[in-house]
Amino acid sequence: MSLSLLLFPIIIILQSMIPTASVSDDCQISTGTILSPSSSSWFSPSGRFAFGFHPEGDGFTVGILFNIMAPNNTMLIWNHNRDYAPVSNSATIKLTKDGLMLLLAPEGAQHDLFSDSSSSTHCASMLDSGNFVIFNSNNNVLWQTFDLPTDTIMGGQTLKNDKKLVSSVSDTNHSSGKFHLRMQASDNNLVMYLRGDVDRAEYNYWYVLSHTAQVTAMMFDRNGTLYLSSISQSITIFNVPENNTNNTAVIIYSVRIEPHGQLQVYSHDLLANTSKVLQRFPEDHCMVKGVCGHNSYCILSEDQTTPQCLCLPGFEYNNPNSHYDGCKTSFIPSYCPGNEPAE
Ligand SMILES: *[C@@H]1O[C@H](CO)[C@@H](O)[C@H](O)[C@H]1NC(C)=O
Ligand SMILES: *[C@@H]1O[C@H](CO)[C@@H](O)[C@H](O)[C@H]1NC(C)=O
Ligand SMILES: *[C@@H]1O[C@H](CO)[C@@H](O)[C@H](O)[C@H]1NC(C)=O
Ligand SMILES: *[C@@H]1O[C@H](CO)[C@@H](O)[C@H](O)[C@H]1NC(C)=O
Ligand SMILES: *[C@@H]1O[C@H](CO)[C@@H](O)[C@H](O)[C@H]1NC(C)=O
Ligand SMILES: *[C@@H]1O[C@H](CO)[C@@H](O)[C@H](O)[C@H]1NC(C)=O
Repeated sequence: MSLSLLLFPIIIILQSMIPTASVSDDCQISTGTILSPSSSSWFSPSGRFAFGFHPEGDGFTVGILFNIMAPNNTMLIWNHNRDYAPVSNSATIKLTKDGLMLLLAPEGAQHDLFSDSSSSTHCASMLDSGNFVIFNSNNNVLWQTFDLPTDTIMGGQTLKNDKKLVSSVSDTNHSSGKFHLRMQASDNNLVMYLRGDVDRAEYNYWYVLSHTAQVTAMMFDRNGTLYLSSISQSITIFNVPENNTNNTAVIIYSVRIEPHGQLQVYSHDLLANTSKVLQRFPEDHCMVKGVCGHNSYCILSEDQTTPQCLCLPGFEYNNPNSHYDGCKTSFIPSYCPGNEPAE
């Protein structure tokens, strides 16, 4: 009796210490914290990844910016509601026990990033992997951006069954663009399509066949290996060549479906502050279906990587600043006998 009374407070102290210690290691942002376009972002410990409001169009998008070499070598690796209009500079984000709220204006509409009906949100962290994570007080993950990829996955991230990566419109417009890569649940194949409402076989332009019914996901590990994984085997899509490894460098990897349809594997050297493209799928850019738009055709340039889109005779570019947007007739249709309007 007296022994258990003595031990009781010690057990309480131990129990309350263990989870608090582990949570505080991972927690950077506590509930009650507010972010606005004019305030700083929520940075990862290295400062490389910034969760916050990033300029988009004439406003801001809420997302994660990867600073490869600040300020002008950056990649937006994720954004929220990419197909909504950019938000104004009076928008705010607040982490509360009910989730992660986005207020479009002080008294305006609310577009939650994550809502937690049990009010168990404890804290959040921007991790150096590029993942933004919300934890409960037991240090369990309630929500993470790695589960909601847009056009990019980072080393350590997975494209789960039936999920897709959708290209952005351009490097400055991060709305959904023309192309996507899908980890197909129907046949376990990994397929890239010119975007349409339905994935039709005739719109595909690149694929990895699984030859097995058990594929569960496309995995991308921290060493830059891209593969399809199943219970019994894995099918390698890409391995980092030996000559790209460098003992003195700190390298992380990403994979992105580009605005013009190729899937690119990147390595990012965090000491030298450089990025390089290790691989492109499909290698021939002109194999990307629809890359040039209507009334045009594709030829490869000297460097074999940038396609050149040329208009058919009698046509001119729809958009002289972007040759990927197709072509229109450059002549005025002349009088056609037998086609005169009835008076
Ligand atoms: C981005 O592109 C989409 C689709 O073309 C367009 O509707 C949207 O207005 C663009 N957004 C911005 C900020 O320019
Ligand atoms: C930014 O880009 C410009 C033009 O590409 C380049 O001259 C300049 O050195 C870059 N600045 C930094 C800090 O990287
Ligand atoms: C990555 O490479 C390191 C060093 O070669 C190795 O120890 C580790 O197991 C690899 N990780 C994965 C996920 O393959
Ligand atoms: C690395 O190896 C690849 C394939 O073997 C080769 O194409 C590439 O030029 C090499 N890169 C360097 C920097 O040696
Ligand atoms: C290795 O990385 C260091 C530091 O970034 C760089 O100076 C060196 O040239 C690299 N070596 C190779 C073989 O890439
Ligand atoms: C790379 O960027 C980091 C962070 O911005 C900076 O501290 C470092 O000096 C840069 N290294 C080089 C070689 O420019």
